[in-house]
Amino acid sequence: MTYAGQLQESYPELAPRVEDLFLLEGHQIARLPDRAPRRELAVVLHAHPRLFRFFVVRHQPSEAFLSALMADHEPGIRRDVAECELALLWEIGDWIVYQRLPGLYDERANFEPGLTAIVDVAPVMGKVVIDAGAGTGQVAFAAAPVAKQVFAVEPVSALRSFIRDKAKLQGLDNVFVMDGFLHDMPIPRGAGEVLLTRQAIGWDLDAELDEVERVLGPGGIALHLTGMPHPVGPEDSFHSTLVARGYQVGSYREGGILKRRYWRQF
Ligand SMILES: C[S@@+](CC[C@H](N)C(=O)[O-])C[C@H]1O[C@@H](n2cnc3c(N)ncnc32)[C@H](O)[C@@H]1O
Repeated sequence: MTYAGQLQESYPELAPRVEDLFLLEGHQIARLPDRAPRRELAVVLHAHPRLFRFFVVRHQPSEAFLSALMADHEPGIRRDVAECELALLWEIGDWIVYQRLPGLYDERANFEPGLTAIVDVAPVMGKVVIDAGAGTGQVAFAAAPVAKQVFAVEPVSALRSFIRDKAKLQGLDNVFVMDGFLHDMPIPRGAGEVLLTRQAIGWDLDAELDEVERVLGPGGIALHLTGMPHPVGPEDSFHSTLVARGYQVGSYREGGILKRRYWRQF
């Protein structure tokens, strides 16, 4: 099944509309060349010129790509436009879910193994923990009751608000939410003791692993819960990169399935 198909199955209540595209953030507009189907995006931009102007204001470097895309593709006729809108919206449906339905996303992202998937290789008790690519903070909230402090790094503003509200509701005053990326965290060198990711690494793997090493410093432990199947299949460049950089590989169980995790002490 395609990624868009999986999203449609998981979030039937989403009913995405073209207006949702106005919610995209600069860092997401920057990733449209990798994520959006080309012709569909071009047809949508022809049909909604305000959207083009909005994207360019939010992420100026995308102007050249978006203009060239529109020059390469004709505008669509009415029915075609509607089909292209839907195809595009579902292809980036996760971004729309983050903005519009963070509570539902949180329910469906439930991190059922919690600390049992973490502490045997990355003890977090009394430590300064970073949850990078935190989403709604599933990992941050698992760690917070026993950690000294948790820094939840997340680029999507609606998700950062969700974590802040939830921490307040739960009376947790050791969860600190910040804007950032795995390859660029607003955290000083060596300030973290344990860095965790769950299904949130690999957009730019080498740069991310460099940044993880920077924020941890000597003695720090990184653990990446990938959500990928265990054991590893042949010719897996993600796996080879992590192993070449000194990570160990193992499994954890989630939803009755064995998944892959990587960890390393620096
Ligand atoms: C699949 S979700 C996982 C969220 C969370 N870790 C969880 O377990 O539910 C991936 C998260 O990474 C965030 N993200 C996307 N690009 C990122 C990047 N370059 N650096 C850090 N986080 C990123 C997304 O906004 C999203 O919240």
